[in-house]
Amino acid sequence: MTQPPTSFDSAKFRQVLGHFPTGVTVITAAPESGPVGLAVGSFASVSLDPPLVAFFAAKGSSSWPKIETSGAFCVNILAEDQEDVCRRFASKGDDKFAGLGWKPAGSGAPLLDGVVAWIDCDIQSVAEAGDHVCVMGEVCDLDVSHDGAPLLFFRGGYGRFSI
Ligand SMILES: Cc1cc2nc3c(=O)[nH]c(=O)nc-3n(C[C@H](O)[C@H](O)[C@H](O)COP(=O)(O)O)c2cc1C
Repeated sequence: MTQPPTSFDSAKFRQVLGHFPTGVTVITAAPESGPVGLAVGSFASVSLDPPLVAFFAAKGSSSWPKIETSGAFCVNILAEDQEDVCRRFASKGDDKFAGLGWKPAGSGAPLLDGVVAWIDCDIQSVAEAGDHVCVMGEVCDLDVSHDGAPLLFFRGGYGRFSI
């Protein structure tokens, strides 16, 4: 039996879901128009065999259509000292890579300097998900860049492990 929906607004939805802590990634790609990227917290490991990962892109994202045309993306897992990189890629703009160090992964998508780890993928499928799309990626290559700690996001703020 389906429950009758309880009424709640988008502020409550955001506030409650913000209690789930995430890491922060930058999803990059290299379409012909030049490198693109956006900050993404909805990244997840999905399947080992075949190796699949996923993230959710907002339908309002200006980078996502360009990522989709490139057919591939690289997941950059940000390190604890990369809050500024996150803020840069959480903004709108054509020049998010200005002054930033990176090299192309096998797909050509930017692999950012200083990230903890990276996962290079081909887009395997794209599914509707409300005001987002669910992007499934088949992993082509991946590695750990250094054994530093990751950047965390919780209740609308940035944090790090205290170990
Ligand atoms: C911590 C954090 C996590 C985010 N997670 C997502 C996400 O999972 N999916 C998404 O579409 N946008 C996410 N965003 C928002 C985008 O980074 C932001 O809207 C950005 O401006 C999009 O850039 P674009 O228009 O160039 O695609 C997140 C932002 C932050 C700060």
